[in-house]
Amino acid sequence: MKILVTGASGFLGKHLVRSLLADGHEVISFVRPTSNMEELRKMDTEVVYGDIRDKGSIERALKIGRNVEVVFHLASILTPVNVSNSLYWDINYQGTQNLLEACRYAGLRALVHCSSVGVMGTLSEIPSRETSPCAADNVYGRSKYQAELLALEYAEKYELPVSIIRPAWIYGPGDRRTYKLFHAIAKRVFLMIGTGETLVHPVYVEDVVQGLKLCAQHPAAVGEVFIIAGAQSVTLHQLVDTIAKELNVKVPRLKIPVWLARFAASVCEKVFKWTHLQPPIHHRRLDFFLKNQSFDISKAREFLGFEPKVDLRTGIRTTLNWYKAQGWL
Ligand SMILES: NC(=O)c1ccc[n+]([C@@H]2O[C@H](COP(=O)([O-])OP(=O)(O)OC[C@H]3O[C@@H](n4cnc5c(N)ncnc54)[C@H](OP(=O)(O)O)[C@@H]3O)[C@@H](O)[C@H]2O)c1
Repeated sequence: MKILVTGASGFLGKHLVRSLLADGHEVISFVRPTSNMEELRKMDTEVVYGDIRDKGSIERALKIGRNVEVVFHLASILTPVNVSNSLYWDINYQGTQNLLEACRYAGLRALVHCSSVGVMGTLSEIPSRETSPCAADNVYGRSKYQAELLALEYAEKYELPVSIIRPAWIYGPGDRRTYKLFHAIAKRVFLMIGTGETLVHPVYVEDVVQGLKLCAQHPAAVGEVFIIAGAQSVTLHQLVDTIAKELNVKVPRLKIPVWLARFAASVCEKVFKWTHLQPPIHHRRLDFFLKNQSFDISKAREFLGFEPKVDLRTGIRTTLNWYKAQGWL
């Protein structure tokens, strides 16, 4: 099958492309001219350069003759805090609209849109499920939520075979975003913010790849939203202890009071606002320490037959081994 992947140069995208190629598919990787191509270059994937904000470039990637049957839409801006809010809307919302428009006449069998549990904001139910309220509390979550609504609208109005996955926090080899957590624990400089009893719900990257692929295979997935998370949530203490045990280090039990962390985040955000650098601490990073994340994945289990295959200890070990192999730990 011919498959187009947007965001192919990203953390999740590279795992997905590798897995689709291993399944024997022809994969077209949609990347930016500035994307880091080091790993994709080693894979047997056709590369098409473009930008999700440029509909013409998506149309070129889908052009007649290529016969693309499935699209995985992963391209997104996630975490930078000192960029304008409009960039989030341009990439996450307008970019998704560009893709949906370009796909309207492409005769696809499936279009899987990668959203995020970030659309739900501060959870009002623990665990939360697909029917729980969405109340995104930052520009990333808001732009991803509006993109979801748009994708569902296209599914209904134009009969586009769209399905949506909302992954929880993804970790695994290649994850640069949460590497800092692993590094701080390895170097014994990790400081807990808050009580450490906050719930986190990690999902190993290959399990997200499984969720994406299942969505593309099941006709019953069309028009549906699925939360994709690991088998269970754990407290921050449990997560940190698991990482520390695998690293064979003792973690200092020092805690930073929440008020102090919030003050530091406000100061850092102001100071770094006019630079291109990311502040070492900011409010969205604090969310990781302070906002419970716990999800019910029964819908994905029942509709798709999704089952997380990698338990936390194994996933952490594999991730740490990858960091060590890069010389980062
Ligand atoms: N990582 C998580 O914990 C997590 C959790 C929930 C949901 N998700 C979702 O999973 C998807 C993949 O995330 P990730 O972790 O792999 O993030 P990532 O590593 O930052 O990858 C993002 C990808 O989007 C591409 N991209 C950004 N702006 C673009 C544009 N204007 N045009 C075309 N491509 C553009 C990036 O290209 P460049 O390489 O050129 O920057 C990169 O390939 C996203 O939709 C995200 O919302 C991630």
